[in-house]
Amino acid sequence: MARGLDVGTMNIISSRPEGDGTTFVQQRNSFVEIEYSDMAEQMLSRSEVLHIRKDDKVYVVGDDALNFANIFNKETRRPMEQGILSSEEASAIPMIKLITEQVAGTPERQGEKIFFSSPADPIDSDLSTLYHQKTLESMLADTGFDPEPINEGMAVIYSELADNNFSGLGVSFGAGMTNICLAYYAVPVMKFSIARGGDWIDHQAAQATGTPVDKVTSIKEDDFTLDFTTDVGGVEGALSIYYENLLDYVIEMISQEVDQEDVEEGLDVPVVVTGGTSSPEGFEELFAQHLEDVDIPFSISDVQSVDDPLYSVARGALVAARSEEESSGGGAATEQQSED
Ligand SMILES: Nc1ncnc2c1ncn2[C@@H]1O[C@H](COP(=O)(O)OP(=O)(O)OP(=O)(O)O)[C@@H](O)[C@H]1O
Ligand SMILES: [Mg+2]
Repeated sequence: MARGLDVGTMNIISSRPEGDGTTFVQQRNSFVEIEYSDMAEQMLSRSEVLHIRKDDKVYVVGDDALNFANIFNKETRRPMEQGILSSEEASAIPMIKLITEQVAGTPERQGEKIFFSSPADPIDSDLSTLYHQKTLESMLADTGFDPEPINEGMAVIYSELADNNFSGLGVSFGAGMTNICLAYYAVPVMKFSIARGGDWIDHQAAQATGTPVDKVTSIKEDDFTLDFTTDVGGVEGALSIYYENLLDYVIEMISQEVDQEDVEEGLDVPVVVTGGTSSPEGFEELFAQHLEDVDIPFSISDVQSVDDPLYSVARGALVAARSEEESSGGGAATEQQSED
């Protein structure tokens, strides 16, 4: 059985086929450090809280980290930043390993295919994604999987544009990054990332209004809509301003890159916007409006949003894994025939 895995700055999500559908398992890519005591560890184990002990510290990992951080009045820590393993976080690798194992489980057979998402190199920073990708690859191989990276933007195309011959522009608005891929008949024509996403919006809005970042994130995720009717001066007002600024920035970068890539002018394709940051109501409309303000040398048939933006990348990774599994199965059958 093939698997997909979306390793994101905020969420790690696995996907596997079940019946006619797909099952997703998700954990927040964060952790919090608490003091070790025998009692604490016993309680954590009994209540099935995902945790790991190291010397005199216990780390509560994944979704529960946020609850524990609130109770103990601590900040959560994140193994990834701007789309890749954080160089600032010494515990990044063991934490991400624990979350990944919990989410993806172990393979049913040695060498089972798993496609995991990996961002494209950003065009607006010096960050390189190679170390991140190779580290994840060896981590998954250690668990017994046969891992293969898939570009995050390409995963969006696989997941959302099957009805359009896997042709179009896929944009994944994540936490640490925005990943963009233009594909034509499942062949990537252009792919790149931008080192800004939901985290950037949160930090800017937090700084502008003097509000703790975690608080801004909850307000944004709870009931924020991009309708620009919210009062000026509040957190929601600041969120709208930085949302619009991020959209303009991303659209400007797309326009620049398309120009440089010499994309064929006769192209007429849809754009799909997805990822957690595309969740608020009004996002798709705002994106479509702002896209009209720039010069793009090919024509865009429409801008589409998706029903469950958090799962697009994991779903697309699974589509790729299954297609690879089928084609290698097909290869074996052909070999069998030729032997006869
Ligand atoms: N309902 C919501 N409204 C607004 N923002 C949301 C909502 N739900 C999640 N988000 C934001 O979406 C982002 C997480 O999205 P996603 O899981 O697609 O990112 P990721 O894959 O973890 O990150 P990346 O791809 O950048 O590494 C976070 O910034 C989060 O705050
Ligand atoms: Mg992502």
